Amino acid sequence: MSILITGGAGFIGSHFALRMVNQGKHVVVLDKLTYAGNIENLNEITGDENKFKYFKFYKGDICNQELVGHIFSSEGVDVVINFAAETHVDRSIMSAGTFIDTDIKGVFVLLEASKRHGIKKFIQVSTDEVYGTVYHDAFKETDTLNPSNPYSASKTGGDRLAYAYWVTYKLPIIITRASNNYGDYQHPEKFIPLFITNALEDKKLPLYGDGQQIRDWIHVEDHCAAIDFLIVHGENGEVYNIGGGNERCNIDTTYFILDELNKPRTLIEHVKDREGHDRRYALDCTKIMSLGWKTQIKFETGLRDTIKWYKNNQKWWKQIKNSAFVEYYNRQYAHRFVNTCK
Ligand code: NAD
Ligand code: TYD
Repeated sequence: MSILITGGAGFIGSHFALRMVNQGKHVVVLDKLTYAGNIENLNEITGDENKFKYFKFYKGDICNQELVGHIFSSEGVDVVINFAAETHVDRSIMSAGTFIDTDIKGVFVLLEASKRHGIKKFIQVSTDEVYGTVYHDAFKETDTLNPSNPYSASKTGGDRLAYAYWVTYKLPIIITRASNNYGDYQHPEKFIPLFITNALEDKKLPLYGDGQQIRDWIHVEDHCAAIDFLIVHGENGEVYNIGGGNERCNIDTTYFILDELNKPRTLIEHVKDREGHDRRYALDCTKIMSLGWKTQIKFETGLRDTIKWYKNNQKWWKQIKNSAFVEYYNRQYAHRFVNTCK
C-alpha cells in the first residue's frame, strides 16, 4: 500500500506521516513548503534510515496537475490523505486568494487524479469550522454548513467537492471534520503555540475580544489515530466528526499556559476581536465513537506536554518567529495592540 500524504510537512500531516512510516507503510509526501511547511517536522523520519526507506518527498503544489499525475503513476498511490491546505483564519481574512486555490482547486486536482487512477481510499481532511458558530448543543454530521470566514468557506468547498465525487463517480471518499488540534510542531501563528512562545519571550498575549470564545481541543495524536482508524473502519461517502471533548474558553486556556510557565497574567492583553469570530465550536462525535474510536489524551496532560515541548525546542520555533513571521506579526497585531480593549 502506497499512501500519498499531502501537506505532510505541516503540523498534523507530519505527525500522520510518522505514524504511517512506523507501521511500515510506504509513504509519499507532497508538500509545497509554504511558510507553514517545514521539512524539519519530518526529521524523525529523514534522520533514521530504518524509517527513511519507507519514505519519499516531493516538493510541489497540489494544484499542479502534471506533478500530481506524475506522482500517481510513478508511485502507485492507492490511498490519499489530503492535509494540504492554507489553514490560518486570520491570514484568510487578510488575503483569501491562496485559500481558494489550495483548499478548493487543489482538492479538485487530487480528486481528478484519484478518479483517473482508481485509488482505494481518499480522505479529505476537513474541519469543524465548516459548521460555523454553534449556539446550542453540538454539531452532527448532518447539520447545515454555515462557514463564516474565507478559510472555513474554502474548506467547505473542498469538503463538498469531495462528497460530490463520491455521489457522482463513486470515488471512495471519506470526509473528516476535526476540532482544534494542539501538540508539538504546530506553527506559532496559532493560538496555543503563539501564547506559549510569547509567554516564554515575556511578550504580550493578544487575546481577542473578551476571550470567552470556546474551542474544543483535540491532541494531534488523537486526531491522527482517528484518521488511521477511519481508513479501515470508515464507510465510503460518509462524514465523521472528530472532536476532543475538551471545550475550553480561550481565557481559561491562556491562564493554564501562564500558570504552567509561572508567568504573570498581566501578560494578557485583550485586543480588538477577529472579524466574524466564531463564538463556539462543538462536535457531536457519536458516529465515530459508535465504531469504537475514542480519544486517549486528556487535555491538561496533553497541553502540559506541549508546553514542555515548546520550552525544550526553542530553536525550532525561534527560527520561524524570527523570519518572515515578523512582518506577518506586525501586520496582524500592531493595530490590535493600539486598539487594546480595556
Ligand atoms: P499546517 O498549516 O500546519 O500545514 C499545512 C501544510 O500544507 C504545510 O506543510 C504547507 O506547506 C502545505 N501546503 C499548503 N498549500 C499547499 C499546496 N498548494 N500544495 C501542497 N502543499 C501545500 O496545517 P495543519 O494544522 O497541519 O492542518 C492540516 C489539515 O487539517 C488542513 O487541511 C486543515 O484544514 C485541517 N484541520 C486542521 C485543524 C487544526 O486545528 N490545525 C483542525 C481541523 C482540520
Ligand atoms: P486559532 O488557533 O487561530 O484557531 P481557529 O481560529 O481556527 O479556531 O484560534 C483559536 C482561538 O484563539 C480562536 O477563538 C481565536 C483565538 N485567538 C486569540 O485570541 N488570539 C490570537 O492571537 C489567535 C491567533 C487566536
